[in-house]
Parts: sequence; structure tokens; C-alpha cells
Amino acid sequence: YTAELDAQDLEKGTYPFYMLKEIDEQPAVLRTLINAYIQDGAYHIDADLLQAIQAADHLYIIACGTSYNAGWIGKKLLENWANIPTDVYLASEFAYDMPLLSARPFFIFLSQSGETADSRQALVEVNCMGAPSLTITNVKGSTLSREASYTLLLHAGPEIAVASTKAYTAQISVMALLAAALGNIPIQEIARDLGIVASTMESILAEKSRIQGWADSNLMETRNAFYIGRTSDYYVSMEAALKLKEISYIQTEAFAAGELKHGTIALIEEGTPVLALITDPVTGSHTRGNLEETKARGAQTMVISMEDTARDGDDFVIQSVRSELRPLVSVVVTQLIAYYTALGRGLDVDKPRNLAKSVTVE
Ligand code: G6P
Repeated sequence: YTAELDAQDLEKGTYPFYMLKEIDEQPAVLRTLINAYIQDGAYHIDADLLQAIQAADHLYIIACGTSYNAGWIGKKLLENWANIPTDVYLASEFAYDMPLLSARPFFIFLSQSGETADSRQALVEVNCMGAPSLTITNVKGSTLSREASYTLLLHAGPEIAVASTKAYTAQISVMALLAAALGNIPIQEIARDLGIVASTMESILAEKSRIQGWADSNLMETRNAFYIGRTSDYYVSMEAALKLKEISYIQTEAFAAGELKHGTIALIEEGTPVLALITDPVTGSHTRGNLEETKARGAQTMVISMEDTARDGDDFVIQSVRSELRPLVSVVVTQLIAYYTALGRGLDVDKPRNLAKSVTVE
């Protein structure tokens, strides 16, 4: 008898699946990033890179899958803090249906693996134009890193589970640090606020059993589900829905809460789960109104909110963090919802059907 030892399985330690391990690693990754990109009281980011971005009149973020979803949060950060107009494109569309570009474009590629063929094809087009570019990736020396003008690393450690978790929060954190450096946000402020995010992530991770309980009672039998939110809560909904659908096979869609009534509400039936992200104080009450409309049609609702947006009866209330950084914590709740749903359904969480970790064909 010879035991076959899988080196990767050894790294899993006591975790049943890599995905849970990688979800748990997020506060540590964030602290690593703070230390990597803030050193000796200054932003530790290549000055040439900052100059090249400052010389641009428009930023184009290009990515696929979870990285694309992170791009939308990056857009908000870059526009709010660095004050540069930013758009987000799916790589597979951008390469063949390029928008009319600004006079001085700068391209940002987001890719955990740095090997995604769709993103690479878009980078080939960008390089043909001779435009400057940055790849934000977890893999040093990867194709997208080698072929772009600049690279920023995610320092997240290997991500094994097909469903990406720590790469998403690392991408957002790196874009936050980049936007803060470009926008001259005081170092102490950003270091403190990201530190608060890391400890708030930890407090969410300490409540796993509550989240598992909700998933067990509401998501075991359903065939479909919806995430709704407005502004950044909508962008996080896109990632939350992708996470749930890819590992639990529940057909899950994200909707801008205000758009529901323009069509999608027709899909709500008795018992349909509708999960609302309400961390934005400005639009929270509107989202609650939209959620009520689904409840009136039989939806089984869940509210994830934040101390300063919470109301009595909300299912999960997160400690408040700086407004622009809220996606970093609310997404953790939704990652756990996806994980426990797939687990409860007895699925192979780390290796969902039909999916690959890195897709190197177009
Ligand atoms: C695959 C993975 C996704 C990932 C996407 C983009 O489809 O299954 O989890 O988000 O590729 O990968 P990248 O490595 O470019 O971030």
C-alpha cells in the first residue's frame, strides 16, 4: 500500500476546503498590503507609475470574472480619491469592441493569475497602440505582468479554490492604496482606516455559524436567488451573486435595487431569496423600499447592513468602516454565504463543475 500524498492537501491543514482558508486569510493579506505599500511613513509605490497615471486623462480598467467585479470598486476609489475618470470593461469585449478612447488613456489590468487569455488579448491591443499600462496581479512574472508597463502585486499567497475570494479583497485594497497615493490622502488616515477594515473582517469571521445558519435555513432548496443594492452595494452584489452561483449552482443574479421594478420583480415568487446589501447611508432607505416590494410578493429577504445604516431586525450588521472601504467587509459576509450554501448542498466547494481557476483560452 502506498499513500498518495497531495502536497496541496497538506497545506489545507484542518480546513475542509481551501475556500474557507482563503476567506480566513483576508485580514492577514490586508495587513501585508498595508506594510508593503506604506513604508517609513510614505506610500511605497513606484514614482514613475504614479506619474504615468497622473499624466492620463482617463483610466480603463480591464478584467474578467471576479477581477472585473473588483474593477467597479476600483473605479469608485480612483474617481473619488485620485479624481481621474475611470471606466471598467470586460476583457473579452474590450479586445474586439473597443470604445472610443480618450486622448491620453492609461490601462489597468486586474488578474489574480496574470494568465487569463481574454485579458492578455486586450493587453496585446493596448501594447499595439503604445499606451501605458499597469497589471495588478497575484503572480510575479506572469504573462500580464511581463507584458504591461508596470506591475503591482497582490501579496495574497497562492489562491487554490476556483472561487476567488482573497484576490478580490486584495485587488480592491491595492487600488485603494494606489488611489490614496494619487489623491494624496494622508498616510496615517489610510493606514488607520484599512487597519479598521482588517479587524472588522475578523469580527465577521468570528460569526461564521450565524451566517451558516442563515444559509442552511434559506438557501438549501431554492433554484434561484437575487442580490440587490445601490451604488457600491450594487457592485458588491455582482460579486456576491457570482460567488453564490459558481459554487452552489443556484441561479443568482445581482440587480441595482432601483431597477428591479423595471422588469426583474416579475421573477419574485413565494419564498424566492432576496439578499440586500445596505451599507450606503445615502441610498439605504431606497433599497429598503425596493426590498419591501419583493417581500410583498413573497420574497424571503435578508439584510446585510452597517451600524450607521442598520434598522431593527436586520439579519447581519457589520461594524462601521470608512464609506469607500465598505465593499471590503460586506463582501466577506457574502463569501461565507456562498461557502456555507455549497457546503450544505454537499458540493465540492473548491472545484465547481465546468470551471477552471485560470482560463488560458479565449
Ligand atoms: C476564471 C476563474 C475566476 C476568475 C477569472 C479571472 O474564470 O474561475 O475565478 O475571476 O478566471 O481570472 P484572473 O486570474 O484573470 O483574475
